[in-house]
Amino acid sequence: MSVMMRAKDVIEKLRGHKVRGLNVNFVDRETETERLIDIFEKRPMHVLVISGPWGCGKTEYARALTYALGVLDDYISIYMNLSEEEAERVLMTMKPRVREAAKDTLTALFKDVAEIPLRMYSFLKMINQRFILRNQIIVIFIDEITRSLDKYKISIRDFISSMSLKLYDLCDELRLKRLYPVFLTSEQTAAQYFLRERGKDMFTYLMWNLPKEAAHELLDELRCPVDNELIWQLVGGNPRGIAELFGLGWDLEKYVTAKLKTCEELVQYAQDLGITDYLSEIIEDADNIKPYVPDSDMPEYSFTIKLLEGNIVIPIDARFERLSNVPSNEPWIGEDKAFQVPVYYWGIKALIKGRKRKIGFKDVLNEIQRYLKG
Ligand SMILES: Nc1ncnc2c1ncn2[C@@H]1O[C@H](COP(=O)(O)OP(=O)(O)O)[C@@H](O)[C@H]1O
Ligand SMILES: [Mg+2]
Repeated sequence: MSVMMRAKDVIEKLRGHKVRGLNVNFVDRETETERLIDIFEKRPMHVLVISGPWGCGKTEYARALTYALGVLDDYISIYMNLSEEEAERVLMTMKPRVREAAKDTLTALFKDVAEIPLRMYSFLKMINQRFILRNQIIVIFIDEITRSLDKYKISIRDFISSMSLKLYDLCDELRLKRLYPVFLTSEQTAAQYFLRERGKDMFTYLMWNLPKEAAHELLDELRCPVDNELIWQLVGGNPRGIAELFGLGWDLEKYVTAKLKTCEELVQYAQDLGITDYLSEIIEDADNIKPYVPDSDMPEYSFTIKLLEGNIVIPIDARFERLSNVPSNEPWIGEDKAFQVPVYYWGIKALIKGRKRKIGFKDVLNEIQRYLKG
């Protein structure tokens, strides 16, 4: 069966995944699925690191895809979330027998789930004793990977190099068809360290917020009474933003007011550093954001680190292969850098324009409306 056909089956199954927190069906992620299956079937083995805005849906997608890959006979997909404490929630896989074997392995081998990535070799070997992995494509999603590295004080460089060496050994020994570890992280400072190790055995990928049509679909499912275009200008398809608004009963004012506080702090920080011009340049064009330089004394660089750590902006340049299509023609998205959600862009913009005056929800709204009227 062709990659396209296989992707189609998986995509169909994705829709059946229930998003528990919101009590809706999973939406979209078709492009991502086509691209990932193409990678798993055609590219040489490597470690994948997926970065993306905070709340863009990485965790939900990894869970949904683990479930959906179950329709393909020759795939075994396992999802582990290192931030979960209970083994029940840590682990999930479509195939119940793998789940059994993996759960037993977990309890027999590790006192701590954070050890798994460091001991992937023992983990797979033990599963293999119970469940033959031969000729299978194994995809292991490990969510919140930096937890394990922080906890065991392992550098990203050492981790990636040992992991990529093991890929081929494991494949030979267990006669796997292929093995793809997929690591997820929202931590932009960590993503920078992964970027440095990018090479033939590890590549970095970018996942984005939902595209407009999918965001509208999710808003419909949640019976959102507010104009969808306005919501798009606030959260830009970020499903966590949509979930937050839903939780607030679609009270946009509450949502914007909370985000404005973060914007005010940023503007204040820029003033303290004496770089308000830099802030204006960033609002003019997100590509004016300086690169990540950890040890620089230049105030612009300290400010950049704040923007990355606070999940306000994110690099989206060519070092990240795109799993998602990133919207073009939005003022908060540049070629190489972007605001993770537009509300920060509009908030900072309104604050800069308003100068010292205290600004509120209405000012942000006016800013958006002026833009929409063009
Ligand atoms: N495709 C989707 N369809 C419906 N809800 C989604 C989708 N993706 C994410 N969500 C919801 O959006 C919120 C944020 O997603 P999450 O996966 O936690 O983001 P991330 O891991 O990137 O920070 C969660 O409540 C999740 O259930
Ligand atoms: Mg997550």
